[in-house]
Amino acid sequence: MKHKLRLGVNIDHVATIRNARGGLYPDPVRAAKLAAAAGADGITAHLREDRRHIRDTDIQRINDEVDRPLNLEMAATKEMLEIALKHKPHAACIVPEKREEQTTEGGLDAIGGHNHLTPMVREMSNAGIRVSLFIEPDARQLDAAVSLGAPVVELHTGRYADLEGADRDTEFERIKAAADYAASIGLECHAGHGLTFDNVVPIAAIATLVELNIGHFLIGEAIFSGLDSAIRRMRSLMDKARAEVEGARSA
Ligand code: PXP
Repeated sequence: MKHKLRLGVNIDHVATIRNARGGLYPDPVRAAKLAAAAGADGITAHLREDRRHIRDTDIQRINDEVDRPLNLEMAATKEMLEIALKHKPHAACIVPEKREEQTTEGGLDAIGGHNHLTPMVREMSNAGIRVSLFIEPDARQLDAAVSLGAPVVELHTGRYADLEGADRDTEFERIKAAADYAASIGLECHAGHGLTFDNVVPIAAIATLVELNIGHFLIGEAIFSGLDSAIRRMRSLMDKARAEVEGARSA
């Protein structure tokens, strides 16, 4: 396959279950190692301000113990910038964060946040961290990402995942157009949020996407079929979708 679509497995919700009992089990680092063995190309973890799932020690241990690049999801705060500069993960994805939200709702405003985000992106880039911005599939946000110096964007697929029928098709077209536009202006384009076995195939078939980040569904599915099996099935759906689109392009 010419352009393999990378899979980043988000292990936040292993930590959610661990924290429900206040102990050490289940260990998100064990899940990260298992994810790597099952075909994950990277491990994604969101260190939230309130540490509701991943904690600082998890970040340290994933970096030290797991043989895959870490993508640290983080809010654009001074505290998180310091943590990123200390741990120097392979990648950092800047996400909007509200304390009361259940999960990341909506994308970052790269236009309004230009002055705040530009020095953060620069500092992390200078430290060798590949910075991405989690944004809505919108050309103006993509232009703003370029103008503030981010090399990578991650398109929010949450709306696509929540919608049905024609509304979902419209949102899908928005994501595809945004991914194609991102690639045309030199951005590496990722996507994620709310992806499942049932909705991943059309997204994986967008040839301009380089990486998908998937968490909640895989950890949920692990309850029924095991994490290894859930990740292998996701990997195989993604690879099949990508192979089909590349076969169609070269035919
Ligand atoms: N990408 C980003 C930037 C996210 O914030 C999240 C959720 O933490 C995900 C991907 C994964 O979303 P989900 O857990 O719904 O698969």
